[in-house]
Amino acid sequence: MKNQYPGFFLVIEGIDGSGKSTLANNLYLALKKMGKDCLLTFEPTNGKWGAILRQSFTGAERLSANEELGLFMKDRQDHLENVIIPALKDGRIIICDRYYFSTAAYQGARGLDPQAILAESRAKSLEPDLCLFLELSPEEAINRIRHGRKEKENNFEQLDYLKSVAKIYGTVKNGCIPLDATLPIEELTDQALKLILQRLEDKNLN
Ligand code: TYD
Repeated sequence: MKNQYPGFFLVIEGIDGSGKSTLANNLYLALKKMGKDCLLTFEPTNGKWGAILRQSFTGAERLSANEELGLFMKDRQDHLENVIIPALKDGRIIICDRYYFSTAAYQGARGLDPQAILAESRAKSLEPDLCLFLELSPEEAINRIRHGRKEKENNFEQLDYLKSVAKIYGTVKNGCIPLDATLPIEELTDQALKLILQRLEDKNLN
């Protein structure tokens, strides 16, 4: 479904370590500074289903691919109904760190059919007005996770897994605008901001 509400729905995607959360935060601050009413949010959420998922990331035993898929879908419906749609109705700008492209890529990398996940997600969820995709090689991403964060990668972040996630992302991210994640963060933020402001203008939300 297309977004028919007055607000603007921005999604940021990319593999772990690509800098999505930093970019999302920078955009939130920049847009707020311009006087725009923004909401920064993310998936998996901290709600009921998201909490189960987050717990399983670091747990010894990973959920089955289908269990994960079911939980991510429930988490998303909850997120849409209770957070995203109400904010769009209020005319706000939603910045969402991960959305259904992540489900297609990550659960796809566990053996499920990415195109089927994408089709089901598109039918059940709201399409973003703009999706920005941070391009970074899995090797560089793992490097950043290991050295930057000084923490061990979780169940989602092993190199082989990230490689297949990246490969599948490549097949499901049509319509997303690619951004070079190796750029200095200020430059990346500027590029993203320009794209957002252009789309806001197109939607008469400037
Ligand atoms: P995220 O919170 O973005 O990780 P971090 O903030 O640590 O970078 O996402 C946690 C993990 O959830 C991430 O490795 C990707 C995974 N994920 C899926 O497998 N499927 C999904 O649908 C979503 C939204 C995330």
